[in-house]
Amino acid sequence: MLDGRRVLLIIAGGIAAYKSLELIRRLRDRGARVRCVMTRAAHQFVTPLAVASLSEDKVYSDLFSLTDESEMGHIRLSREADLIVVAPATADLIARMAAGLADDLAATALLASDKPVMIAPAMNAQMWAHPATEANLATLARRGILRVGPGAGLLACGEVGLGRMAEPAEILAAIEAFFVADHRLAGRRALVTSGPTREPIDPVRYLSNYSSGKQGHAIAAALAALGAETVLVSGPTQERTPPGVCLVAVESAREMLAACEAALPVDVAVMAAAVADWRVEGAAAQKLKKNGEGAPVLRLVENPDILATIARRRNDRPALVVGFAAETENIIANARAKRAKKGCDWVLANDVSPGTGTFGGDRNTIHLVDADGVEDWPVMTKTEVARRLADRIAARLPSRIH
Ligand code: PMT
Repeated sequence: MLDGRRVLLIIAGGIAAYKSLELIRRLRDRGARVRCVMTRAAHQFVTPLAVASLSEDKVYSDLFSLTDESEMGHIRLSREADLIVVAPATADLIARMAAGLADDLAATALLASDKPVMIAPAMNAQMWAHPATEANLATLARRGILRVGPGAGLLACGEVGLGRMAEPAEILAAIEAFFVADHRLAGRRALVTSGPTREPIDPVRYLSNYSSGKQGHAIAAALAALGAETVLVSGPTQERTPPGVCLVAVESAREMLAACEAALPVDVAVMAAAVADWRVEGAAAQKLKKNGEGAPVLRLVENPDILATIARRRNDRPALVVGFAAETENIIANARAKRAKKGCDWVLANDVSPGTGTFGGDRNTIHLVDADGVEDWPVMTKTEVARRLADRIAARLPSRIH
């Protein structure tokens, strides 16, 4: 049920506007309060009278109407909504949203809002496939705008293809799913590193470690589940990419650093990868052979420190930088020293001594070290560690959506 939920429905000018009448009816049946804004073009497809009758409220259309402005300014229109739904979202309105225009009441209400927005695109298949529309949709996705549809089928223009607005039942289901989900990190960007790095010795051999990627992947999943747009930079692992997470697969520490820098700016960075501290200087271009002159001597050189590099960025340092400390002795003292040396905000220290099962296993025991001191977490599954960390991050970085 949507009891008392306030939905601001923006109806743009497309043939699919007739489906919005059914959407209003269904929303009202589920107990939602629906207030409608129609663009001028929408008036060509459905009448304000029909929209007003179904929503049992006045319909808002005119940015410069003295009555509209005095009764319900565009700021109040969006402020008094829990969710703004744009259905149909035409190519034109999507472009105006992406560009941040405020040239009518619908666009102005969207621009003047910090509320969550869901769009149900509807347009001709060519318009849908156009690179301009693709770029506009990517911009909206980066801003955390939710999307439902479109579907494929026979379009009003007679063509068959993608662009048909989602059915009212589907849009309603997406709205209901939105209201039960946890969106504490909506509008935030997160970067997570995971897994080991591999440092080549020659084309067939490498230096690496026992990290499985379980902990880093679980953290990416937990942040994405709270609505953060999450980039996961991972070394080679068997772990599946969590839903909704953008994976950047890398091998060496230097590749991992480049991928992390390319993902900036982000609001939070969590560095759970077990990055090789050293790499082989001048890895061989051909496979090393036993040539009777004894074992080859490998000279190691230090890898860049990814955590320290990200934590010391000048203009685009994430608001919160979280590192891990994998220790086998003096866990807290070493974690404190790492926090100071690398310049991160929090360090999650874990004991990786043989027998603990931290590397590769399903459980972990964390000591969170921050400026205030140390918090000891009980032994938990890596999923629980990830959820607890995501909760802490959400408390530190409240959602941009109110
Ligand atoms: O992958 P799993 O099997 O699930 O195991 C999880 C884990 C044990 C790998 C994880 O919980 C963990 O502790 N990750 C950090 C491992 C590590 O490299 O720790 P460190 O103490 O050597 O490094 C400290 C911090 O600096 C880490 O955040 C690390 O990502 C970072 N670092 C280290 C070296 C380097 N060159 N660049 C870095 O960014």
